[in-house]
Amino acid sequence: MEILRANNLKTYFKTTHGTVKAVDGVSFSLNRGETLGIVGESGVGKSVTAHTVMGLARNIGAGIVDGEVWYEGKDLFADHGLYGQVRGAKIALIPQEAGTALNPVMTVGDQLGEVLSVHLALSGSEKQQRIVQLLGLVELPNPSQTARLYPFQLSGGALQRVLLAIALSCGPEIIIADEPASSLDTTIQAQILGTIRDIKRKSELSMILIAHDLGVISQNCDRLLVMYGGRVMESGLTSEILRQPLHPYTIELLEIYRCLDEGDLGCDFNKGYLPSSYEDVPGCAFAGRCRQARDRCRTERPAPLIINDNRTVSCLFCQRK
Ligand SMILES: Nc1ncnc2c1ncn2[C@@H]1O[C@H](COP(=O)(O)OP(=O)(O)OP(=O)(O)O)[C@@H](O)[C@H]1O
Ligand SMILES: [Mg+2]
Repeated sequence: MEILRANNLKTYFKTTHGTVKAVDGVSFSLNRGETLGIVGESGVGKSVTAHTVMGLARNIGAGIVDGEVWYEGKDLFADHGLYGQVRGAKIALIPQEAGTALNPVMTVGDQLGEVLSVHLALSGSEKQQRIVQLLGLVELPNPSQTARLYPFQLSGGALQRVLLAIALSCGPEIIIADEPASSLDTTIQAQILGTIRDIKRKSELSMILIAHDLGVISQNCDRLLVMYGGRVMESGLTSEILRQPLHPYTIELLEIYRCLDEGDLGCDFNKGYLPSSYEDVPGCAFAGRCRQARDRCRTERPAPLIINDNRTVSCLFCQRK
């Protein structure tokens, strides 16, 4: 059952050099209890998509924000009051920059307490109890002691767990996790993702997980959204996409991920070219880099071709398989 739907999201930044179309017509749905992965190279619009869904795009400087975000039968973009109640409580974000997300001069307990106070009416002792319970839930040792520590007294992995506790604090239905723990070593990252999976299993939490590691993607994501140039190139079940990617960008991206995972420096892929953020791209965003591009690809924006109930591919020359 669908819990969240994003329709035609557009998030543009006006800069002195021109307009950056960071998110340019992104649509997707999220089902209850599932994990939807968002993948794509650096700069393709994953984090801006996350902020847009949270209704926070203007807070990070976007000048134009358009589209719809449907939750519980209502378009949150059209109901700011409801957005305020839902954000942080029912839909929570674990931001990409874990190091700067916490206030350095407040203890982690006080920061958790602050979030709890915004959304829940708890007495002082209930709040303290909930703080300790949350720090235990994310498997931090000595929760009551940890609550009294400042962020600088915690390791990177512990900080990431505190952010998870903050996201979970008001019993959310949806968590958007932007590359959680990806800056930490792979063992710590695997442990934290394991904790998230356990919590998800017990609570029917739905999740949007931004990731770039094949292992993380295949272990955690039920479906995938492959982004490039602010647009969705392909979407579908993770197992189907990993087994048989259809969009030329997905094929190349998976090859890049495989090379990174295996530390293979000899891989032959069309390295690095992402269209300039200021370029207006009338055709396919990937056309400038695609080995199979034809003239039409540079002028005609491909509509998503529906392959099956779960699968779409935005390529003019994709063969339906
Ligand atoms: N405040 C801003 N002002 C102008 N441009 C921005 C702003 N924030 C993001 N962008 C641009 O929007 C595009 C998408 O950025 P985004 O942070 O979503 O990328 P990403 O896919 O999350 O990359 P990464 O994998 O590196 O985190 C980039 O071109 C980026 O430079
Ligand atoms: Mg990002």
